[in-house]
Amino acid sequence: MDGRARAARRMNPESLRRVTCLIGDITRQEVDAIVNAANPSLRGGGGVDGAIHRAAGAGLLAECIQRHPDGCRPGEARITSGHGLPAPFVIHTPGPVWRGGGAGEGEVLASCFQRSLELAAERELASLAFPAISCGVYGYPPALAAEVAIRALGQGLERAREIEEVRIVLFDEALCAVFHTALQRALSD
Ligand code: APR
Repeated sequence: MDGRARAARRMNPESLRRVTCLIGDITRQEVDAIVNAANPSLRGGGGVDGAIHRAAGAGLLAECIQRHPDGCRPGEARITSGHGLPAPFVIHTPGPVWRGGGAGEGEVLASCFQRSLELAAERELASLAFPAISCGVYGYPPALAAEVAIRALGQGLERAREIEEVRIVLFDEALCAVFHTALQRALSD
């Protein structure tokens, strides 16, 4: 395996010490920014997207329409204010729809995490909360998504040293166990 391939697989255990997994409602997290598993239109939807828009209030949709009229491509990320949320910012990133694993879904999902970290670092934000992007309606197998997410967070946090805390907020115990296992495995890497 050449140097680039080795770097791509590296899990960065020291960076991952800033990551925790917990069961909770992402809309209630008191962090600098919560990440929304958004629809590419950025016009809201169901799942965590719907929960965030409901908790933020109508101002969030109005800001998305006004500031991001063209929406956001899967794997890219856009930032808005948090409006009625405890978090002052929301980072919207559409994940990939799972199509069996051969359509570059892993690269797009990794990009969701890394672009969100880059946006947070640009704004000098110190704490973020991510949901299980693509693990709901978009059908990404949780164990595979967790592996991609943890690797992407490790690599992204190695570059963003000013980010002090990343929470992965899972909506149920089973999903939390999957992400926690992936994180523990990477930490012992
Ligand atoms: N807090 C944390 N996690 C939540 C919450 C919440 N309040 N609500 C739902 N979730 C979890 C789901 O249980 C799932 O594990 O977020 C994960 C992501 O699921 P979805 O919200 O369905 O997101 P995704 O699979 O990325 O699909 C995105 O669904 O709602 C539409 O507009 C959205 O088109 C987009 C698509």
